[in-house]
Amino acid sequence: MRIGDLVKTETQEGKEKHVPVIELVDYPDCTDKIVKITVGKEVPHPNTIAHHIKWIHLYGVKEGLAVHMAAFDLGPTYGIPEVTCHANLAEFSELIAIEYCNIHGLWESSFILSP
Ligand SMILES: [Fe+2]
Repeated sequence: MRIGDLVKTETQEGKEKHVPVIELVDYPDCTDKIVKITVGKEVPHPNTIAHHIKWIHLYGVKEGLAVHMAAFDLGPTYGIPEVTCHANLAEFSELIAIEYCNIHGLWESSFILSP
């Protein structure tokens, strides 16, 4: 088995609470958009000590390789798993976010960057 075999996506049960939603959003006093990742945007994730999003990682795809761009260590927490980061996206064709729920495992999504 490979770790990739255990990563869930938008086709699996529980997706509404777990698949990370990647967006490019405006940020005050910044000319470039920033990356925003939300877990549980459609249906809020519980976010308790017993059941929480432990971490979110962001990768950029550059010439067919995954480049690690940011890591957010969140749990255990009652906080909403919503994170943002500034990033130079010019060299990347796609973004991939992966998150870990301590009960429901690994989930990922991707976002195609327009040229
Ligand atoms: Fe969960």
